[in-house]
Amino acid sequence: MIVAIQRGRTTIISTGNTVIELHDHLLVIGKADRMHEHMHWFGVTSRPIRKVFIIGGGLWAVGEFNRSPYVTNAWVAREQPVQFSHEHHVAGLGLDCRYCHTAVEDSSSAGMPSTKTCMTCHSQIWTNAELLEPVRESWRTNQPIRWNRVHDLPDFAQFNHGVHVQKGVGCVSCHGAVNEMPLMWQTASLQMEWCLSCHREPEKHLRPRDQVFELTKIPADVQAVQGKELVKKYHVNSEAITRCSTCHY
Ligand code: HEC
Ligand code: HEC
Ligand code: HEC
Ligand code: HEC
Ligand code: HEC
Repeated sequence: MIVAIQRGRTTIISTGNTVIELHDHLLVIGKADRMHEHMHWFGVTSRPIRKVFIIGGGLWAVGEFNRSPYVTNAWVAREQPVQFSHEHHVAGLGLDCRYCHTAVEDSSSAGMPSTKTCMTCHSQIWTNAELLEPVRESWRTNQPIRWNRVHDLPDFAQFNHGVHVQKGVGCVSCHGAVNEMPLMWQTASLQMEWCLSCHREPEKHLRPRDQVFELTKIPADVQAVQGKELVKKYHVNSEAITRCSTCHY
């Protein structure tokens, strides 16, 4: 069974457990389950898939491939116009998510920081750093920095940050340990089945509202007790949020 995918200028050929990637100047051969490490290593960006060719094999292979990181973009670090690091700014400097994603508690969209937010510090520190030239250029020219989206649901699926934050769903449940990311990547598939797995059993994931921005994992024994309590306390209705019309309307 051979499956080939062309994504931007990259061609990925999979033959079962072995994956061959042809980049502009690079040939990568590896085992399927280890590939995200290679991709991270070489700083390969992932772009929307333009074409999927099925050279041989059955639907099973297509199904498996659809859940693989190549298709969902999970675990692939995204290149950005500025090498902004959550690892440095969140873990290193201790900045709260809301410092930059100001709308996340009460809007559907989390919001992205303006150049002014960056310049609060970077007009004072690292003022000559080459890495920050795109930020200074944006400030001089009054043109916003165009960040490449990492997470992007199709338009027919509704999502709302505010609701999740208010009901005690932590950033870490959906975005992983961003404090360990030098460049951002997706840690969840964002496929329907992934959303539903939590909507069916929210008690496995809820945390007290005042811990929503903490990126630590909660021990299983603590979660087993607090999860059920929080479902009641925050009036989470698991039945309602598994209906199709919750996310599609
Ligand atoms: C100093 C500002 C700053 C802070 C603090 C910050 N971020 Fe970000 N965040 C950014 C910038 C800039 C981007 C766009 C570049 C990128 O994707 O890495 C971004 C992107 C993201 C994205 C990806 C957005 C997309 O395109 O899908 C997520 C998720 C995210 N941040 C989560 C968090 C979380 C969770 C926290 C708190 C633990 C946090 N951020 C703290 C500035 C910040
Ligand atoms: C609260 C102050 C503060 C804010 C706000 C801030 N930075 Fe930084 N930034 C720093 C400091 C301090 C460093 C040096 C970090 C280090 O070396 O650990 C840094 C380093 C950097 C670097 C160099 C690479 C790295 O991560 O070490 C880049 C690029 C950068 N910042 C981009 C941004 C962008 C883009 C924004 C706005 C979205 C931003 N910063 C907001 C304080 C800040
Ligand atoms: C229940 C899962 C979930 C939780 C919890 C969550 N996010 Fe997201 N986040 C998403 C999804 C899904 C997207 C893509 C949304 C889209 O494409 O419309 C996203 C997108 C983003 C973006 C890109 C801008 C935007 O709004 O589309 C940022 C920034 C972000 N999240 C930050 C955060 C922060 C900070 C937290 C914690 C307060 C958080 N997220 C909690 C699922 C989640
Ligand atoms: C980790 C758990 C978790 C994940 C993952 C998750 N959700 Fe939710 N979602 C919740 C909880 C909890 C609620 C609040 C339920 C309530 O209010 O009864 C909710 C509510 C919602 C609502 C209802 C909003 C409203 O206006 O009341 C929508 C829409 C939604 N989620 C969409 C999504 C989508 C789309 C995804 C996947 C991209 C997703 N969720 C992933 C836990 C989660
Ligand atoms: C918790 C939110 C949520 C609920 C509830 C939900 N969906 Fe979805 N659905 C999604 C998301 C998110 C996607 C996009 C997945 C992707 O991009 O891969 C999606 C995609 C789809 C698609 C496109 C094909 C596919 O599988 O990607 C169809 C059809 C669909 N949903 C039908 C339904 C039906 C029918 C129901 C009720 C039985 C339902 N959905 C309930 C979130 C949801």
